[in-house]
Amino acid sequence: EKGNYRHFMQKEIFEQPDSTARTIGAYVNVLKQTVELPGENGHAIDWNDVTSLHMIACGTAHYATRVAEYWFEQVAGLPVKTDIASEFRYREPALPKTGGLALFVSQSGETADTLAALRYCKEKGLKTAAVVNVPTSTIAREADLVLPTLAGPEIGVASTKAFTAQLSALAAVAIAAGRGRETLSRDAEIRLGKALTQLPRLISSTLALDERIEKLARDIAKATDVIYLGRGVHYPIALEGALKLKEISYIHAEGYASGELKHGPIALIDEDTPVVFVAPFDGLFDKSLSNLQEVAARRGEVILISDEAGLRAAADAPAHRIELPDCDPFVAPILYSIPVQLLAYHVAVEKGTDVDQPRNLAKSVTVE
Ligand code: M6R
Repeated sequence: EKGNYRHFMQKEIFEQPDSTARTIGAYVNVLKQTVELPGENGHAIDWNDVTSLHMIACGTAHYATRVAEYWFEQVAGLPVKTDIASEFRYREPALPKTGGLALFVSQSGETADTLAALRYCKEKGLKTAAVVNVPTSTIAREADLVLPTLAGPEIGVASTKAFTAQLSALAAVAIAAGRGRETLSRDAEIRLGKALTQLPRLISSTLALDERIEKLARDIAKATDVIYLGRGVHYPIALEGALKLKEISYIHAEGYASGELKHGPIALIDEDTPVVFVAPFDGLFDKSLSNLQEVAARRGEVILISDEAGLRAAADAPAHRIELPDCDPFVAPILYSIPVQLLAYHVAVEKGTDVDQPRNLAKSVTVE
């Protein structure tokens, strides 16, 4: 039931304070201030035995693994490889004989390529775990360990609340890995656990930007191409923003690492090309700001999604500004997913497309 919402996608975007809170609540023990993986009694993964982590998924779930790659490296010092399932399964990947952990991420738990990749890894003797939203799915049944996302049923073809639930679960798994490998201090575990627990409240305040983004969408809906740029953990959010926009509005969009701008995409910039910067005021902000100024200097229409400090530093270079609340940089990619979802949603509504059932797409891709 859509209730008061116009589309399931809209309802699912607005459910994210609850869906992330439920998921985070399954991993973070607020009383003990620890992160515990559900379903494993704290022992099923011995992180000290894990020498490499392979994360495999498709589409939006793949972008969740791309964010998590930064987290696992940062807090657990773990070598990570991320792969698109359809590439992984046919490429005869070199896999470690011991110590390899393969982690699959899927909302439906039925994606054909992801399932085939899971079976391949099991055959090769790797330990397998799956971050899945549908607990009765094939992937959930076949993985050695299930790490649930508690997003609830997702109806809109474009994934929203499943994505932020995947990120929430993966962030918790990275913290657990950091503790297990003793690369994360107790203080840091407490800080990151708190940042996760406080996130749903920040998502609520970010959803209040809805009207502001709806107005901006009227302008973006006129574009034929949109570029999304981000650095570090926000690079995959730029990729996800571009995917969301093309899926439901049919506007051509590309996500790039901001640092790649000069290596090609800057040639596309003109006054008709909106460029969305996903850039909180973190350690990489200065770098993004110089990219932003390069775009503005070529009369590109800059949309800056940042926080108070970032918007202040950018002065009047961006044509449009979206101000998010301050948050811990660790959880920022989860928070910054919200405005890119809202932007895609409102642009699609403005264009009059079938938001919940975009053309040519299926909710679950059960054939290759
Ligand atoms: O069910 P899964 O998470 O395995 O699905 C993976 C992709 O098919 C899915 O994320 C797809 O990219 C969505 N349409 C994105 O919005």
